[in-house]
Amino acid sequence: MAADMFRLDGRVAVVTGGGQGIGEAVCRRLAAAGARIGVFDMSAENARRVADAIGGVPMVGDLTKEADLDRVFGEVVKAAGPVDVLVNNAGVASRKGRDVPIWESVREDWEYVFNINVTGLVLCCKAVLPGMIDRRYGRVVNIASIAGKEGNPKMGPYSASKAAVIALTKSLSKELVGKGDICVNSISPAVIQTPILDQLSQEQINMMLSKIPLGRTGKPDEVAALVHFLSSSECSFTTGFCVDISGGRATY
Ligand SMILES: NC(=O)c1ccc[n+]([C@@H]2O[C@H](COP(=O)([O-])OP(=O)(O)OC[C@H]3O[C@@H](n4cnc5c(N)ncnc54)[C@H](O)[C@@H]3O)[C@@H](O)[C@H]2O)c1
Repeated sequence: MAADMFRLDGRVAVVTGGGQGIGEAVCRRLAAAGARIGVFDMSAENARRVADAIGGVPMVGDLTKEADLDRVFGEVVKAAGPVDVLVNNAGVASRKGRDVPIWESVREDWEYVFNINVTGLVLCCKAVLPGMIDRRYGRVVNIASIAGKEGNPKMGPYSASKAAVIALTKSLSKELVGKGDICVNSISPAVIQTPILDQLSQEQINMMLSKIPLGRTGKPDEVAALVHFLSSSECSFTTGFCVDISGGRATY
């Protein structure tokens, strides 16, 4: 196979949570590489703003609602064609102000985070995988977190949900063996400078920053560069893996 320099011409990529932060950077990066992008976000304003900027398709909805998923995936397929790349990026850190130890957590803290970070992600996979299997091609990139490898204190639901993302990435990659050139990977960022940090206390952010050997937050564009490789046809012998992007915090 000739190297295609990670070009994505002719590919359709859906990015969940594409309206801001890491998701927006991924949308812009994959669009610059030639892909047509479905910008999926529950913020209609942000989904449209990003889609307008890159000639993409806005997909406005809540990924925990199956009716919304049917509608928005139908819209992107109609406008751009079948989905080749799915970047499962949408996620939440906690209910506002609920970064508490596990013994102080309540059922709603767990249900809120797992519903979006795990169940919603699985539902998005289910929306595109039958088509990828039919066409025997696909790339899925799941945005996990360093918290899913290490378990951050006072972030129990988040850490456990991201560990689930890492594990289901491995299960899915094995289930897809023999079904074509379909690779599924996850990545584990440390602190990246985005609005998600508004959901956490400064004390919590300082704790996470203190663990990063490179001594700074990561940038959304740095994450987008890694997602770009994992979304390309040149990522063909890496599947089921969780790639670290943590400024040296996790070297495993
Ligand atoms: N920023 C970090 O430090 C960091 C570190 C590790 C992992 N991550 C992960 O990276 C991903 C993106 O994080 P970010 O910092 O860009 O977050 P962000 O809060 O800036 O953006 C998340 C986007 O997802 C959208 N979204 C949330 N719930 C949704 C739903 N139910 N349906 C549709 N859209 C929904 C939001 O509207 C928002 O646009 C998340 O999965 C997060 O857990 C972030």
